[in-house]
Amino acid sequence: MSNEFVRRSLDEIRFWSRIMKEHSLFLKLGFRCDDTELIQEANRFYSIFEQIEGASHSFTESTDPEQIKRFNAEVQTAATHIWAFKRKVLGLIIQCKLPGGNNFPLLVDHVSREANYFRNRLKELNEGKLEPLPDAIIDENVFFLRIMADHAKFIGHLLDPSERQLVEQARNFSHDFDQLLFQAIDLSGMRPQSQTQPLLGQFLDENRVSVVSLRDFKKTARDLIDACRIKSIIHPLLADHVFREAERFLFIIDMFEANLIGGAQSHQQSKK
Ligand SMILES: [Fe+2]
Ligand SMILES: [Fe+2]
Repeated sequence: MSNEFVRRSLDEIRFWSRIMKEHSLFLKLGFRCDDTELIQEANRFYSIFEQIEGASHSFTESTDPEQIKRFNAEVQTAATHIWAFKRKVLGLIIQCKLPGGNNFPLLVDHVSREANYFRNRLKELNEGKLEPLPDAIIDENVFFLRIMADHAKFIGHLLDPSERQLVEQARNFSHDFDQLLFQAIDLSGMRPQSQTQPLLGQFLDENRVSVVSLRDFKKTARDLIDACRIKSIIHPLLADHVFREAERFLFIIDMFEANLIGGAQSHQQSKK
């Protein structure tokens, strides 16, 4: 285990613990005021992830890897618990046991997928079993493209229906990302033959173009909501939250691209 392990662990935990903390707030705001037990449970998760976030910032890259390994395991348990909570809430909503609540089933499923992603990342890090690059490229893109497609749908449904142009834009993004997701699933189905450097490079380039424009749209929406210039029931923090998740996806695409190019260059050099 190395500094790289510590750096990657802290990077994941700093990003996702804040996300989990915010999910607890969004779920709470969507419960009915009589659902006091669910509200309390959401509050508990809020403080658990707030604590984890604080702890993650108290560690540095030179912290003992063994200590980080224990921290990862603890956070993984917390992520598993919030995942189970989200799935329980999803069950209640789908069985119509929370009529009049304001959490969409797809939103609850979505945040549970993010919790599951987080706990898997920690598990992989602790087991030292990161996927080979060509598999990671496809799997991470399948995961994040679906997340982005969901965001576009949430934005479209939470804007006021009278914001016709913005609703239309959100619907177009939803369609574009559904298409990209199906392309990614097709590429995944053609594994391993599809995992050539040119195809994966093109795949990343295409996805990047769309994620950049969705990221810019989210940024505009966030700024408009902050300035109270548009009508919606989108919490300002939710607007910022989905913007940050798009930035995260871009960061991952860039990292893959750099590794893909780096790998191709060293391959070229070894052929010379
Ligand atoms: Fe999220
Ligand atoms: Fe999300």
